[in-house]
Amino acid sequence: MQPVKVLFVCLGNICRSPTAEGVFRQVVEDNGLSHVIKTDSAGTAAYHVGEGPDERSQLAAKKRGYLISDLKARQVSDDDFFEFDYILAADFQNLKDLQDRQKLNLDGKARLGLFLDYLDEDSEQEIPDPYYGGAKGFEHVLDLCEKASESLLSELKKDHHLDRSE
Ligand code: 4NP
Repeated sequence: MQPVKVLFVCLGNICRSPTAEGVFRQVVEDNGLSHVIKTDSAGTAAYHVGEGPDERSQLAAKKRGYLISDLKARQVSDDDFFEFDYILAADFQNLKDLQDRQKLNLDGKARLGLFLDYLDEDSEQEIPDPYYGGAKGFEHVLDLCEKASESLLSELKKDHHLDRSE
């Protein structure tokens, strides 16, 4: 069986999407599903390509047991629309940029959406950008990523019949 591939996308790929990737891959590992779900993250902008996650994101994540220091920022590529099953944006602007880009890659199989689509209908829809704010913003990003990761994993398990033993 081909693994299910999930790409998280924000603007710079140094705060929100590496946090989403780090939290989700930990949840996947804790559920014994690392062999059937592959994760990655990327930015719609190229400002920080090659850099590790923002120090504030790394610190906030580490305090909750998520290690994200191995991640390196990259920009979304055309290949991503063919490679990934799901491309999940942190906010509406990044989703719109992805939708515009997918129109140029018509055969791309990736399903586009917001990461927070996996939360309840009355929950927040966007992960607010913490880059220009204080520590609270980074904690809020983690809170949202933790909640959405659990529900994303439940959906993937159902839709793709994923099992620890596969
Ligand atoms: P991210 O946050 O999109 O969550 O990685 C940002 C990082 C850098 C910038 C903006 C947002 N920037 O303007 O450099």
